[in-house]
Amino acid sequence: MSDLFDALKAEIEADGPITVARYMELALAHPEHGYYRKQDPFGEDGDFTTAPEISQMFGEMLGLWTAVVWQALGSPDPLNLVELGPGRGTLMADALRAGIAMEDFDDAVRLWMIETSPVLQAIQKESLKPTLMMPAWRPTFEEVGSGPLVVLGNEFFDALPIHQHQRTEDGWRERLVGLNGAGDGLEFTLAEDLADSALIPESLRDTAEIGAIFEHQPLSQEIMGQIAKRVVAEGGAALFIDYGYVEHGIGETLQALKGHEYTDVLKNPGDVDLTAHVDFEQLMMAAKGAGAEVLGPVPQGAFLESLGLRQRADMLMMNASEEQMAEIDGAYQRLTDAEQMGTLFKVIAVVPPGFGVPPWAA
Ligand SMILES: C[S@@+](CC[C@H](N)C(=O)[O-])C[C@H]1O[C@@H](n2cnc3c(N)ncnc32)[C@H](O)[C@@H]1O
Repeated sequence: MSDLFDALKAEIEADGPITVARYMELALAHPEHGYYRKQDPFGEDGDFTTAPEISQMFGEMLGLWTAVVWQALGSPDPLNLVELGPGRGTLMADALRAGIAMEDFDDAVRLWMIETSPVLQAIQKESLKPTLMMPAWRPTFEEVGSGPLVVLGNEFFDALPIHQHQRTEDGWRERLVGLNGAGDGLEFTLAEDLADSALIPESLRDTAEIGAIFEHQPLSQEIMGQIAKRVVAEGGAALFIDYGYVEHGIGETLQALKGHEYTDVLKNPGDVDLTAHVDFEQLMMAAKGAGAEVLGPVPQGAFLESLGLRQRADMLMMNASEEQMAEIDGAYQRLTDAEQMGTLFKVIAVVPPGFGVPPWAA
């Protein structure tokens, strides 16, 4: 077992089994042994690859989107440009390079990176050096300064803790993580008390099969509510790209990745990546509840095409070697193909009512 196991064992022995959300929180963000706190997990040699790490074109398209939104806002100076969970900082570096093509954009931008990992903060600093912009790093969105803002988040919500509830013969119970009989490993168990049935969407509460699991994402909803409130009150827009489902559903999506392979979610906590599919319906309800309008979800492929991804790929190919051309085309396919990231990944934009439509897939 991992270093984190001892900390988890101590907490479970003291207070009893923990929620799946607490397990995810510790596994990803324990100050000493959390997965994101101690390593750079991205790329071929890491555990997974994200869209900005596949191609510079992804960040460039988001940079264009940002610059157009900034113009639609009346080119405010300053503009708070915020990224949630910026990973290696690649997306922002590529986005700024594209946005800077718009006159006065770079003078207006005040950059905020919402990141809890010191290891990743150091890598982000390096990635941003060529842009000559110095961001402010903050652990939570709430600490972003006032004024108009554009918020970007790619694969941010999928890393946030979720709760799981399971339907049993006499009602729904929260799923917990406890110690196995020998005390040398972890296993799933269920809370003795019934869960508040209001947590389960009405459409599923009495129709789900016994044993079915519903994933509840309150932290994601809370953060989405904060962002939507700011966008409505101070002007701006937020764009999120993630993989997940469009309507509430039944099913377990918590998954662990190590070296690009799926692995047991309860083995080696802190050494494997944990994610869950995003429930876009829960996110959209939170944004609308805060008074915002939501566009989408649209498939990532269609969104990137509407911003001119094909044209950008063709432009890059004009000065490329044959090998580079194959690479650019491969990246284009990976980002847009329905069999790859094109459909599973979805995009939503959060805007104030009456804002109009920023660059968007039809
Ligand atoms: C799956 S990675 C996505 C990285 C990047 N956006 C990309 O596309 O390459 C998740 C990111 O969210 C950060 N993160 C995870 N939980 C967080 C939290 N509660 N608050 C802020 N950042 C968090 C991680 O450190 C990491 O940078």
